[in-house]
Amino acid sequence: MDKLIIRGGRRLSGKVPVSGAKNAALPLMAASLLADAPLRLRNLPRLVDIATMADLLNHHGTAVTLEGATGNGTGFGRVMRLETPAIVDTTAPYDIVRRMRASILVLGPLLARAGTARVSLPGGCAIGTRPIDLHLKGLAALGAEIALEEGYVLARAPRGGLRGARVVLDKVSVGATENLLMAASLARGETVIENAAREPEIVDLGRCLVAMGARIEGLGTSRIEIAGVTRLGAADHRTMADRIEAGSYAIAAAITGGRVTLLGAEAAAMEAQIEILRAAGVKIATVPEGLEVSGGDGIRPVTCTTQPYPGFPTDMQAQLMALMCLADGASVITEAIFENRFMHVLELARMGADITVAGASATVRGVARLAGAPVMATDLRASMGLALAGLAADGVTEVHRLYHLDRGYERLEEKLLRLGADVARVAA
Ligand code: UD1
Repeated sequence: MDKLIIRGGRRLSGKVPVSGAKNAALPLMAASLLADAPLRLRNLPRLVDIATMADLLNHHGTAVTLEGATGNGTGFGRVMRLETPAIVDTTAPYDIVRRMRASILVLGPLLARAGTARVSLPGGCAIGTRPIDLHLKGLAALGAEIALEEGYVLARAPRGGLRGARVVLDKVSVGATENLLMAASLARGETVIENAAREPEIVDLGRCLVAMGARIEGLGTSRIEIAGVTRLGAADHRTMADRIEAGSYAIAAAITGGRVTLLGAEAAAMEAQIEILRAAGVKIATVPEGLEVSGGDGIRPVTCTTQPYPGFPTDMQAQLMALMCLADGASVITEAIFENRFMHVLELARMGADITVAGASATVRGVARLAGAPVMATDLRASMGLALAGLAADGVTEVHRLYHLDRGYERLEEKLLRLGADVARVAA
């Protein structure tokens, strides 16, 4: 198992290309199950999660081919062609689903296209229980019969296929909105999703579905209307830039007092992040190439609560906390999306951070210095928070279980090296 060795204290400077968004790419790939014609996706990040989704789709009958090494002239990303002439297997097996929770995104497409699906329950997750009840309730509203059997969700569409309906989500859910959007695109009649999630990744998925022939209104709002069509066709789509990766590198610049240009960052999808970072004293400017971020004049404490989009993303909470560990005063960071997403707190404390957790809120009292230490995290974004702390800490930080980072950050150490960080990946 690889680990990342970071010698802290270097100011990062230079330009870093932002990869395609993992959380947009996964549902986009799943959408290829809806059509028998090819879907060409550009700017897909090279990540373990993308490979896992490709494995799963392949199991269902999708031919996945890579077209050339890169898709955007930066040396990062690639172009993938996905074509599913027929669904050959409607079961998403435990063996693949357990590797990645987002596998649940095949449920809606399989059900809509093949009329039946059997998907392993994703099970508990390190950042809370993460149920799928909203996905199931929504699909049931479209007429699906749902049963749970031996750890699997069994879903069956009514005779004649799914039918449009009004679905009110009890809670804002990115994945449930995506599953419903895909399923409703091939349902008979009109579907309205109320209290839909508004994340830019959902808009990206919706645009791709529209390019495939779907009829969708209201993307990016909490009310999405879908008029079902009988067939979806071929499309070519460019995956949006990863706003979480971009935000993570923005914090890398800020925490080291450096200056970094985030090539291809899409500022419009990052407003809440930009607002919080500016409140923390980080300078951010929109430039033709993307965003230019610089730190250096001290870090101010902030009060921040994670929220569904357009609020501050939960996927940036650990990275923001790392920055606040070195702020000039006390910050309060509240995690309002997941109930157990503070696993990085104890690890940061081992590096000298002063953090107290009470329920969903963490009070982070800034310290003058962090000290390098061996650390370990149990999820992707928490690991990034620790790596960021390591970039600013005195001495050596070893981030163990690098596979978490490989799920979501394309060639992390290579990008950090380009920016002048002292990092190395070693086999542990
Ligand atoms: C997606 C992102 C993940 C991000 C999260 C919140 C992907 C692949 N993953 O995950 O990186 O952290 O959005 O922005 O895009 N919930 C239920 N029942 C459900 C579904 C969700 O109670 O059926 C709850 C969850 O436990 C959580 C909240 O709703 O508390 C939001 O979860 P959701 O938006 O569904 O997250 P994901 O789609 O799993």
